[in-house]
Amino acid sequence: MPNPIKRIGVLTAGGDCPGINAVIRAVTKTAIYKYDLRVFGIEDGFQGLIENRIAPLSSLHVSGILTRGGTILGTNNRSNPAHCFVGNDEDGKPKFADVTPRCLDNINAHKLDALIVIGGDGSMGCAMPFVEAGVNCIGIPKTIDNDVAGTDLTFGFLTAVATATDALDRLHSTAMSHHRVMVCELMGRNAGWIALHSGIASGSDAILIPEIPYDIDRICTFVKNRMAHNRGFSIIACAEGARSTDGKQIVAHVDPTRPEPIRLGGVGQHIATQIQQRTNIEARTTVLGYIQRSGTPIANDRVLATAFGYHAIEQLMAGKQNRMVSMTNGTLCDVDIKSVAGKQRLIPMDEPLLATARAVKTCFGD
Ligand code: F6P
Repeated sequence: MPNPIKRIGVLTAGGDCPGINAVIRAVTKTAIYKYDLRVFGIEDGFQGLIENRIAPLSSLHVSGILTRGGTILGTNNRSNPAHCFVGNDEDGKPKFADVTPRCLDNINAHKLDALIVIGGDGSMGCAMPFVEAGVNCIGIPKTIDNDVAGTDLTFGFLTAVATATDALDRLHSTAMSHHRVMVCELMGRNAGWIALHSGIASGSDAILIPEIPYDIDRICTFVKNRMAHNRGFSIIACAEGARSTDGKQIVAHVDPTRPEPIRLGGVGQHIATQIQQRTNIEARTTVLGYIQRSGTPIANDRVLATAFGYHAIEQLMAGKQNRMVSMTNGTLCDVDIKSVAGKQRLIPMDEPLLATARAVKTCFGD
């Protein structure tokens, strides 16, 4: 029986990351060259689906974008069609509406047979109403945070780790020269993957992650000991979601109009201040921020992104429905998108890298 898939829509949702363009390119070229499909780019994630900003993507559009950071389609981490912010009520409280039907009209108007959703756990969650309405959605896990359930690896993560490692490496020389504690705050939301990997790669002295609550007294004892034993400095790789033993995270701001209202930030400064006050050792903070998400993907991410894009189209053309492509145990595969949508993959306590880091005397603040 001929495959009924003729026209597909592609969208990139959530925070951008290195490698999205490489995925768009792989999806588009595989779809056009191998299967003669028509590909449509949806602008700014689900917002473009709501507003019917959908236009054909040709192989020419995706030529030369493999190495470019960001996304040529634009993205959005504020827009969830099932819970769409539509303004404030008289009391200034945000109002929301379900605009899924409007999106379905736009999908039908463009006769799209499937959607390729390039996004993180939240974006996979946003795709669920479309899956329930009968739209075949194929997910491609994207985020620097590496926290999408159902895959060991998301594209963008390895580039973010390389960037964070470079920053931590650089901080060593100034930390050494001034005999300071240098805290580097890294992204990752509620997962500590970027801090764990870059912390190990850079030989950071302490790694603080949300999954292991820290005790500030233990960190202070640790840095004081290092000073006493002539190390003269300490480097702390600190995930933005790091939490103290009282369970509290440092929140930069709360925006109730967003699908994810809590925006993290500030824990690096908080920890540096605490260390300096309690130990009298000078402590400084560097917040690496969006540098981790920006710029050209490293080679491994280009390969992963291309493989993911190709695999997504292969699954679609093999007649599969509602899958998310995945890299599990080093193998390219796919999982049921419904089983992973909206689920975060945190660092499990039996993660071998935790024992590895502890073996070389890395402090987790516990
Ligand atoms: O999910 C990617 C990420 O960069 C997180 O690490 C970070 O907490 C968040 O996005 C920042 O989001 P925004 O772009 O809304 O500031």
